[in-house]
Amino acid sequence: MDFETKVIHAGVEPDPLTGAVMTPIYQTSTYAQESPGHHRGYEYSRTDNPTRTVLQTQLAELESATHTLVFSSGLASIDAVLNLLQAGDHVIAGDDLYGGTYRVFDKVAAHRGIAFSFVDLRDEAKLRQAFTQSTKLVWFESPTNPMMNVIDIRSVTQIAREHGALSAVDNTFMSPYFQRPLELGADISMHSMTKYLNGHSDVVMGALMIRDKEMKSPRKVWSDPDFSAPKTLYARLKFLQNAIGATPGPFDCFLVLRGIKTLAVRMQRHAENAGHIARFLESHPKVERVLYPGLESHPGHAIAERQTSGFGGMMTFFIRGGLPEARKFLENVKLFTLAESLGGVESLIEHPAIMTHASIPAEKRREIGILDNLVRVSVGIESANDLIADLDQALAKA
Ligand SMILES: Cc1ncc(COP(=O)(O)O)c(C=O)c1O
Repeated sequence: MDFETKVIHAGVEPDPLTGAVMTPIYQTSTYAQESPGHHRGYEYSRTDNPTRTVLQTQLAELESATHTLVFSSGLASIDAVLNLLQAGDHVIAGDDLYGGTYRVFDKVAAHRGIAFSFVDLRDEAKLRQAFTQSTKLVWFESPTNPMMNVIDIRSVTQIAREHGALSAVDNTFMSPYFQRPLELGADISMHSMTKYLNGHSDVVMGALMIRDKEMKSPRKVWSDPDFSAPKTLYARLKFLQNAIGATPGPFDCFLVLRGIKTLAVRMQRHAENAGHIARFLESHPKVERVLYPGLESHPGHAIAERQTSGFGGMMTFFIRGGLPEARKFLENVKLFTLAESLGGVESLIEHPAIMTHASIPAEKRREIGILDNLVRVSVGIESANDLIADLDQALAKA
């Protein structure tokens, strides 16, 4: 089945009870049992809910996953992965990450005794050097947020496997329409579904798409009586989804199911508009440099062409000058909304250093390249002409 068909049909059948064509919102916390322990597969909605089951089944089909688990936010799904680890474990993470991901690594998991090395994963030698005896996970984004670096997913996941570590890719920026990390060797593909998968800026939700595998040598933490059973990656994450309980409600699952139906057409339009805007910005005298993997000038263009089927709707650019020019420009956009987040049908624009990436220490931000004249754009699906006209008039005022 082609992707365009999958987003409409995969995993979504008429409701078995009533024939309802659209998946009903099973707004219930609990389910009647015929006899203690005898039920129809549902006992409590933190554990499982039929609306959520349909969403998880469809997502798995979209990304060639054996299973998908959804969570109440992208960060809750990241935390579930971190809960596979225990004190003393080591994680290699990309050095350019969404600020909230960096924060949960550095300010939460690190305090539970998990060690992190933040590495520029474009450099294979640096990646290989970063492994220790305790490395259990390699976590990265591609393209990275906000520097739009392209990481070779096949190569990094292969190196992780050689070292017996899990690999997880935050695939939020590309969506399964343009990039499917599990097909390139990753064990986990994570999404903030708050973004493209839902696509309408009205839900916060996360997902882990999983290529299930036996987990070798379950360690002490897994051998406690309640935890001894899960022997596979999926079973452990499913256990954690229920045990921690950061699950989304059925209404939000319904909204994401509805959003997914237009994922293919939305992504095509996001990318088409982004291509026009990137070329406009690249030729504008008030713009220093544009970071968009679809441009031939982007150092990761060739890898992006190889591992994705399109370049998405996200880009960043350096405006000529510093914070005053960036601020003036951002205060003057009219069609673009100055706001955090991305991936909705409407175009958003923001200042990473002050907004989405403020939780990264200033010195580290400078090291990565998140300077005060960096602007991030989430290109929506409006008319490209109108979007360009808006950027043009705001640049004139900067
Ligand atoms: C790339 C990326 N990963 C993860 C997240 C976190 O997701 P959520 O906000 O749904 O918790 C975000 C949010 O902006 C993001 O942009």
